Amino acid sequence: MRRAACPGTFDPVTNGHIDIVGRASTLFDEVVVAVGVNKSKRRLFSAEERIEMLRESCRGFDNVTVDGFDGLLTTFCEERGIHAIVKGLRAASDFDYELQMAQMNASLAEVETVFVPTSPEYSFLASSLVKEVATFGGDVSGLVPGFVHERLTARLAERRSQGDV
Ligand code: PNS
Repeated sequence: MRRAACPGTFDPVTNGHIDIVGRASTLFDEVVVAVGVNKSKRRLFSAEERIEMLRESCRGFDNVTVDGFDGLLTTFCEERGIHAIVKGLRAASDFDYELQMAQMNASLAEVETVFVPTSPEYSFLASSLVKEVATFGGDVSGLVPGFVHERLTARLAERRSQGDV
């Protein structure tokens, strides 16, 4: 059984993430989307919300499950018998850091990192940019699933009413 992890923060999940997960699901027997739940960083959505949005987004993929992880990604992989990590590469600028992480992860556990080139229509897409553009009223409805867009709009309105954005 060939298993892979698709790790990330997913705050929130974008259409670019779903594209990579879907393509990984055709390359591996099982794919586990690994949602980093490290509490030290401030997120727009809680770990539970991010996991739930990913589960909803990945419902169409039969061999994809979603789980949270805290601590090292390699520990998560070892505990589940996962020997491959799939990462999307948007541009050359992603490569240096991703290569460093891939090599560090390979030094920690028996895991290979597989880089999948992001589809051109998503090459500019990042959760951080989606949040920034949405915060200032830009239209991001084509960049995230419809229900994520609704939750993003609602969460930003909440934060705005609290004077928090
Ligand atoms: O979506 P992101 O923020 O690019 O995801 C980064 C993530 C969560 C994949 C990465 O930070 C990670 O693997 N964190 C877990 C901690 C860890 O294993 N660190 C060592 C990396 S070499």
